[in-house]
Amino acid sequence: MVFLSYYDHSDDMKLRVAIVGFGFMGQMHAKVYQALENIEIVGVVDTFPATVKAVAEYGLSATLFPTLEAVLDQTAVDIVDICLPTDLHADAIVTAARAGKHVFCEKPLALTIADAERALAAVEAAGVHFQVGQCIRFWPEYQALETFLKSGQGGCLTSLWMQRRASKPAYSQENWLHANHRSKGAALDLHIHDTDFILHLLGKPQSVHSIGHKVDGVYTHLFTHYYYDQIAVTAQGGWDYPAQWGFQMAFQAVFEHAVVEMDSLISPSLHITLQDQKRVAMLFNKPVIKSDGPNSGNISDLGGYYNELATFVRGIRTGSKPTIATGPQALESLRTVLAEIQSADEKRSITL
Ligand SMILES: NC(=O)c1ccc[n+]([C@@H]2O[C@H](COP(=O)([O-])OP(=O)(O)OC[C@H]3O[C@@H](n4cnc5c(N)ncnc54)[C@H](O)[C@@H]3O)[C@@H](O)[C@H]2O)c1
Repeated sequence: MVFLSYYDHSDDMKLRVAIVGFGFMGQMHAKVYQALENIEIVGVVDTFPATVKAVAEYGLSATLFPTLEAVLDQTAVDIVDICLPTDLHADAIVTAARAGKHVFCEKPLALTIADAERALAAVEAAGVHFQVGQCIRFWPEYQALETFLKSGQGGCLTSLWMQRRASKPAYSQENWLHANHRSKGAALDLHIHDTDFILHLLGKPQSVHSIGHKVDGVYTHLFTHYYYDQIAVTAQGGWDYPAQWGFQMAFQAVFEHAVVEMDSLISPSLHITLQDQKRVAMLFNKPVIKSDGPNSGNISDLGGYYNELATFVRGIRTGSKPTIATGPQALESLRTVLAEIQSADEKRSITL
């Protein structure tokens, strides 16, 4: 059984990108752009000295700028790719959209509904392409689950659990990930991936009920039940594991006649058990990289990051606005996680 995950980006329209924020995720996006054809990273915006070294390590000829405004003033840019800490997303989206640039912004869209709506209004007014880095919608194993669900082959989905667990992240600049007013902790930064995919797969739940663990007022682990009529759905996300524990993303989807399971800690990562048959590895296509650039053939760590940016770039070239991981979809995911946080804080279910 093979599922589709092929992205053709043969169009030769050259696109110029400015990456804003060149930490963990900015560098990941740089790897993807280097693997895509006819993309030039013309500017990098960052304020920390270590970034200068990182830009050189990636072999980029991009100029380093201190602000988004500076790169927009001084360089011709088609795409602004925002990989800043979350509290800075909304202002950067507004600035880039008002300058008429296409915008890709990392998840979460923003920290608050007001900021998210302000950013989306600017995008709407400018008429530019806009996509949010809710990359699980583009992750091959998760896409395989979506395809299987839609095929109806396993009958109805009866239950789904999802999880993302990690060691406490120690890399973020100024430790912004652990400041509630900058990230809202593991609840919004990590767990939103699973919430977003649940909404993508099943639509809006009637309500959510969460419990969690906080350190210094910030959720480091959140467990949530999502209430749907016929499907039992639960997810947990936490980064309160010991330093050497690592990272795991996993899910188990039980259907009337099948079980689909994914665990990033084992290889192959995706398995299916069909009624009366043995549990077997489930095949899915990984992204195809045509470039002969520095990351050619090295897709192991690019996964959905490659797919999401390839899709965004292709949409600009073909004139089709994003339909997956759009601004309004990212807003609903933000709204749902904020309800989960409220539920855990107030120890009650929150109706959506
Ligand atoms: N999609 C995913 O799987 C995923 C994974 C990790 C992070 N993220 C998201 O990516 C975003 C960035 O996270 P990160 O892990 O790369 O953090 P990071 O701390 O590694 O990088 C942030 C970068 O922004 C720079 N920066 C901070 N303030 C700035 C400013 N005012 N102007 C210019 N540069 C500035 C910092 O110097 C740093 O290099 C966050 O929204 C995070 O949630 C997404």
